[in-house]
Amino acid sequence: MNYHIKDKALKGLGKKRILWADNNMPVLRQIRKKFTKEKPLKGIKISACLHVTTETANLMRTLKEGGAEVSLCASNPLSTQDDVAAALISDYDVPVFAIKGENNTTYYKHINQVLDIKPNITMDDGADLISTIHSKRKILLKSILGGTEETTTGVVRLRSMATRGVLGYPVIAVNDSHTKYLFDNRYGTGQSSIDGILRATNTLIAGKNFVVCGYGWCGRGIALRARGMGANVIVTEVEPIKAIEAQMDGFRVMKANEAFKIADIIITATGDINVIDKHHFELMKDGVILANSGHFDVEINKKALTKLAIEHYEARPLVEAYRFKNGKQIYLLAEGRLVNLSCAEGHPPEVMDMSFANQSLAAEYIVKEGKELDKKVYKLPQEIDDRIAKMKLDSLGVEIDKLTKEQENYLKAWEFGT
Ligand code: ADE
Repeated sequence: MNYHIKDKALKGLGKKRILWADNNMPVLRQIRKKFTKEKPLKGIKISACLHVTTETANLMRTLKEGGAEVSLCASNPLSTQDDVAAALISDYDVPVFAIKGENNTTYYKHINQVLDIKPNITMDDGADLISTIHSKRKILLKSILGGTEETTTGVVRLRSMATRGVLGYPVIAVNDSHTKYLFDNRYGTGQSSIDGILRATNTLIAGKNFVVCGYGWCGRGIALRARGMGANVIVTEVEPIKAIEAQMDGFRVMKANEAFKIADIIITATGDINVIDKHHFELMKDGVILANSGHFDVEINKKALTKLAIEHYEARPLVEAYRFKNGKQIYLLAEGRLVNLSCAEGHPPEVMDMSFANQSLAAEYIVKEGKELDKKVYKLPQEIDDRIAKMKLDSLGVEIDKLTKEQENYLKAWEFGT
């Protein structure tokens, strides 16, 4: 088997951790059981570019049980769990091309290596596979039925391709299922981003001025959890509606220029570029901690920070200190890359359970319906989203009520008034 990982000897710990995660992924386990019997992906080749984590390993196992041939690379140079990569190769026969800390050249080499299987389905987290296929390997378009996309940033890129008429095959925006973004983006990012900051710095959250840039689903989750740990949470936003929501959710809303002056910790979750820019660094207090939770490492202007500082050095693993002429220090976590996956383990399995149930069922849907779909970005049908929610509730032992016939009819009627 062709692969490129850090060290095969790490497989023991990797396998234990994969099974630990699997214990907390009951919906995915149920789908795997069904896939084992029905083999809905038989003969299908899937190239996947996802964070190489314990949860992703269980998705790979599910796709393989469904009959697919899979090949996996990382969707971020810093998010790979090297022990998981080793176990995937040794215990689950999944070719992996990913090493934590790989440089950009190796990152793209790995992307090309997973594409060498000539996929029928691409599975992306950030759209790097699709972008590479469309810009450098168009020949692969011929054999592709469809793709899936895991994250908001990827969906934004793909919608832009579809609008410009350059998208070469249909893509399912897994991110847009309710059972994905309401849980993974909110509770997953909320918990794992704080986890990343804590593991990297061991800082106290209570009593700190904690600034969250962006009040999308990820920003909301981070703000909620930071407040839960006793921080004074401040939100910065550019969209008026989101800003009112943040205000009425009880957070202070400020312009970045004001918020950054008093911040102890700042985290970006916007999906946009240079949210923390050159002029902002000059406003900040000594000792401020900067982190990013957006998909790409573009939200904090690292180049400008490097230029402004007179020196920088590693203060702790994954914490770079930038020292200014006046003695002020700014701490940047994980080179401005995704803090939750670089400094911690990403979202917990309980939420990835639903995200990856969506990925598995999206692959099955593409096999069944791909030929009928246009070269556009689609959501998974509501019926599948609801089915995943129902399976999750069942796994939690939570029962809910059903509408009576009378109530159903009332909702369909328009005649009744006061
Ligand atoms: N994205 C965020 N958390 C993740 C995880 N644990 N595994 C894979 N992708 C993720």
